[in-house]
Amino acid sequence: MLEIKENLSLKSYNTFGLDVKASEVYFLTNIAQLSDIPQREEALILGGGSNVLLTSDLHRPVIINQLKGIEVLSQEADFIELRVASGENWHELVMYCVEHGYGGIENLSLIPGSVGAAPMQNIGAYGVEIQNVLQNVTAIRLSDLKERTFSAEECEFGYRHSIFKSRLKGQYLITGITLRLTKNHHTLNTSYGAIQEVLARKGITEASIKDISEAVIEIRQSKLPDPKELGNTGSFFKNPVIKKAHFDRLKSQYPEIKSYPVDDDHVKVPAGWLIESRGWKGKVVGNTGSHKQQALVLVNYGKATGKEVKELSEAIKADIASTYGIELETEVNIIEA
Ligand code: EPU
Repeated sequence: MLEIKENLSLKSYNTFGLDVKASEVYFLTNIAQLSDIPQREEALILGGGSNVLLTSDLHRPVIINQLKGIEVLSQEADFIELRVASGENWHELVMYCVEHGYGGIENLSLIPGSVGAAPMQNIGAYGVEIQNVLQNVTAIRLSDLKERTFSAEECEFGYRHSIFKSRLKGQYLITGITLRLTKNHHTLNTSYGAIQEVLARKGITEASIKDISEAVIEIRQSKLPDPKELGNTGSFFKNPVIKKAHFDRLKSQYPEIKSYPVDDDHVKVPAGWLIESRGWKGKVVGNTGSHKQQALVLVNYGKATGKEVKELSEAIKADIASTYGIELETEVNIIEA
């Protein structure tokens, strides 16, 4: 039975904890139920609600994805292929893999949200992105309910980017993903300085996937606010990629500015640094603000509205643009109505 609720507050369905109302909310537990949802093409699909900013009440269907299931598709001596339904919780999947000794997503521990949202924005942290282990994504087109399998290449992954966020935005509901993970001879990624520091402090020289997962959890807990305690959606903006020549000009004016290499002509600048340098870090503006430990994270102090958060983000964007000539792009999906 397809469960439907009317005039429901979405406060507990978005990690910002924004109290907006939706006229009809459908709780999807199997794909066949999609045919019972009127105007499903206009629907807003929520998994964990960890990457959306809801700015007003919604007078269109909202689908809460509750498709569940983890299945072993195939395995060899060193590899395993897992098929995971999109409504599973991402972090619980990571914990399942760590417990079973399947390597590849341990650096992506504690990322809030659902499995379906992971390929949508090619989630990444501490040197790993989901595209590194993703075999394919299955999705269903809302208009005609046709199912399609997208190979990793067809997903057009980039930094916090995929085809589902761009050309096919709003057209498909992701139903599941297939991951190829290691059972032995894991390719561990400990390149990130903070991971190395935690391992060194614990005296770990030969890290296991569990050690890395625990290190990542410790790092994230130390600077990223827990959405259950303080509403947020992780990084609000992407780290901007700018021309090297532009960066060199900025560097001569602001010698402390940081960057990561991208290619011969471009560098990535940490948005957190840009925002902090302008004094926004820890600043409280009404019911919202930039987090005191990670400037890139905007938070809801309890009673914020989506509009307030959006206004703060626009003020930050305008300040960074006029100071550094850099246009910050939002990572979060801003939902207008
Ligand atoms: N920084 C500051 N001030 C701040 C925050 C950061 O100066 O308040 C500077 C520091 O120089 C620091 C650098 O920015 O060395 C990088 O900071 P951090 O390691 O915290 O990572 P980030 O670039 O801010 C990105 C991802 C995170 C991911 C981490 C770790 C984006 C938009 N964000 O953040 O992803 O967890 O790297 O890999 O790429 C998310 O997408 O929601 C998210 C949390």
